Amino acid sequence: MYRLFVAIDLPADIKKELAAMSFGLPGARWVSDEQLHLTIRFIGEVDGAIFSELREALSFINLAPFSYSLQGIGHFPPRGMPRVLWVGVNVTGGIIRLRNKVEDVLRSLNLKPDDRKFTPHITLARLKNTPKARVANFIATNNLYKSRDIKVNEFQLYSSVLSSKGALHYLEGEYALNAHNQADD
Ligand code: 2AM
Repeated sequence: MYRLFVAIDLPADIKKELAAMSFGLPGARWVSDEQLHLTIRFIGEVDGAIFSELREALSFINLAPFSYSLQGIGHFPPRGMPRVLWVGVNVTGGIIRLRNKVEDVLRSLNLKPDDRKFTPHITLARLKNTPKARVANFIATNNLYKSRDIKVNEFQLYSSVLSSKGALHYLEGEYALNAHNQADD
């Protein structure tokens, strides 16, 4: 079985900016630079046959390159003990269109739809028993963060292997967005 997700990688300079704020919280397991990403769709476990079909089907997605930016810091759940610390995404049409096209591909392979609300974010850290006041302080310090515009020219399919040290991500496919389609944001 393969545990899969579709994501957008972040450029090196943006990863550097995020890594620079990733310190100083007790109980935080910070996401490493290599693993920082924007999840477009968590797929979950599929068998080998579906995996190969999916790998191919994603290459037929037709979408123009698009841009977006990152802004602000928050956590999940929004109330109660924070478990995931994230950087916010200024959502653009391109992100939604990519998400919808991936969803269409998954539907064509009879995979289960994801009915949960899509809340694009970049996970910075997973938190365990981190005092709320420390999280609030981290947010107060970093909340003014705003990235440059980030151009997306391709998206990625990753597999995720759970281990005692956390999940390991393996690149399974990379798909270029096609510049001949009209970009509209
Ligand atoms: P996260 O960044 O909010 O943790 C690989 O696990 C990626 O898929 C992670 O970025 C994770 O989002 C996302 N994801 C979404 N739903 C998930 C789920 N039910 N289980 C594991 N990962 C999930």
